[in-house]
Amino acid sequence: MSRRNLSYEETLIWYFEEEIEGEAYFHALAEHFDEPGAAEKLHVIAEVERCAANVMRPLLERHNLVTRDENTLRADAVTKIGKDANRTWPEYVDHVADYFPVYVPMFEALENMAPAEDRAALERLTDHEHVTIDFAIREKAGDPDSAKPMRDYITLCDSEALRSA
Ligand SMILES: [Fe+2]
Repeated sequence: MSRRNLSYEETLIWYFEEEIEGEAYFHALAEHFDEPGAAEKLHVIAEVERCAANVMRPLLERHNLVTRDENTLRADAVTKIGKDANRTWPEYVDHVADYFPVYVPMFEALENMAPAEDRAALERLTDHEHVTIDFAIREKAGDPDSAKPMRDYITLCDSEALRSA
C-alpha cells in the first residue's frame, strides 16, 4: 500500500476503503485456519478493522467525501486472500508481527497531514494498528489472553460511536 502524491482527502478515502476491505478479509481468512482459537482471533482482528473504519466516518462526512460502495469493497476483499490462506497460524502471526508495523508510519503521516479537528480520530485510527501488532506479539509469546488489546479497542470505539450517534 503505497501511493504517492495523494491529497489528505484522497488518503482518507483510500484508508477508509482499506479498513472496510480489511474487515471482510479477516472474517474470510478465518475460514482457512484449523488451529484452536485462530479463527476467533481473526474475527476479532476483523472487528478492529470495522471499528477503525467507523472512527473515520465522521471525517468523511466533515469533508464530504464519497467512497466506493462498501459491499463491493467487501466482495472484492474476499477474493484477495492468496498466500495468507496457505500459512500456518504461527506463520500468519509472525507475518502480522513483522509486517504490520510498516503501516504505522503511514497512519502517523496521515495524522500529520490532518487539520486539528481530525487529529483525535486519526490517532484512534493509528491505534488500531498498534493493538493488532500488540496482539501478534502477545500471541507469539503464548499469552492466553493475547486478543485483549484488540477487545479493549473495540469496546472503546463502539462506546464512542454510541455516544456520538
Ligand atoms: Fe486496518
